[in-house]
Amino acid sequence: MTDQAVSHQEGAAAAAPSTAQPASQPSGLDLVGLTKVFAGGTVAVDDVNLHVDHGEYVVLLGPSGCGKTTTLRMIGGHEYPTEGDILLDGQSLVDLPPHKRPTTTVFQHFALFPHRTSLQNVEFGLKMHGVSRTERRAEAMKALEMVGLETLHDRKPGALSGGQQQRVALARVLVTKPQALLLDEPLGDLDRLLQLRMRVELRELQRQLGLMFIHVTHNQEEALSMADRIVVMNDARIQQVADPLTIATKPATEVVARFMGDNNIVRGKVTQRDGDRLVVEDEQHVKASVHAPGARHAVGDPGMIAIRAAAVTVDADGSTAGELNSAECEIVFVEFLGDLVKLHLVAGGERMLAKVGAEEYPRLRGREGERIRISWREEDVQLLDS
Ligand SMILES: Nc1ncnc2c1ncn2[C@@H]1O[C@H](COP(=O)(O)OP(=O)(O)OP(=O)(O)O)[C@@H](O)[C@H]1O
Ligand SMILES: [Mg+2]
Repeated sequence: MTDQAVSHQEGAAAAAPSTAQPASQPSGLDLVGLTKVFAGGTVAVDDVNLHVDHGEYVVLLGPSGCGKTTTLRMIGGHEYPTEGDILLDGQSLVDLPPHKRPTTTVFQHFALFPHRTSLQNVEFGLKMHGVSRTERRAEAMKALEMVGLETLHDRKPGALSGGQQQRVALARVLVTKPQALLLDEPLGDLDRLLQLRMRVELRELQRQLGLMFIHVTHNQEEALSMADRIVVMNDARIQQVADPLTIATKPATEVVARFMGDNNIVRGKVTQRDGDRLVVEDEQHVKASVHAPGARHAVGDPGMIAIRAAAVTVDADGSTAGELNSAECEIVFVEFLGDLVKLHLVAGGERMLAKVGAEEYPRLRGREGERIRISWREEDVQLLDS
């Protein structure tokens, strides 16, 4: 949440007329109070404040309908904001049409012209900008080189693999030398193996080019693997902005903890407080301590915590009812996933999940219905904003 507040400040400062001191030129993209209400009253984007640096790879992540595409369309100029501003290096973009903006959008379907060669497909973007034929050729070849496809310049899309087609599509947008690339679910249509390869390729390409990429997805893993920073959206608003490790291990809100998956969310009461350390207990015998600097909770207040499934360990058998940071559970289902095992458990009436390494599978296989003890470390417990 602090990130947003800071961004808002920066955005506001960028918007103010500069009186002196050219030393601190605003740099990067600022969304300031960006809001979109569609005819009919749907609030698709609600007061979004965000700063993105040049060269940064930012992923907008969230469930279907949360406003990701609408945000991207406003940045690209395909949708006009109801309120707020979009600034690039301090200059407002909102009144510029898409082709006058220093941004280029890559839509969900990479849509190449099937009857044109790679080179002709790439040239097309420049034709729209009125660049001469010779210059177009040279620029398009350079762009194909950037994506490693110069030798395939005279192939038509039908004679290229899915990944190669995607690279042609990328070359087609890169050739216009945008300052920011806007990508809406760019890997959405690809089969899984190609998706995994394109993640790495896209990220490598972005690093080489040093360009700002804003990438929209509803795929958590894709966001974690690719982003410098993830913006988690829900219901038209930003929930949390942070680097992937923080999003994965320190979700700020219940929505983020649930959306990122595999978090055990326990709603209970604060039963002890000792400085920044709280103990939260539910009625089902889950009792966890959490280090939460700045928490305003007092003893007796409701408290909600998240315990990452991957941080839960399965202990040697034995009863430890009521012990801190451990719980006695019944095994509901042992789910083997190749490189890990998901243990579906129930503690009291509460469903819990533990993710352990595949090497544990022989020990756990077929033990549904049995009782085991699980535990976790205090540092893997996160207090959530409710
Ligand atoms: N042109 C439109 N007119 C009216 N409502 C719209 C329009 N475009 C989008 N919406 C609504 O705005 C909300 C946000 O839509 P948006 O397309 O931005 O979501 P999204 O996060 O990209 O979802 P998805 O992951 O499904 O692509 C949704 O409730 C959607 O129905
Ligand atoms: Mg969308």
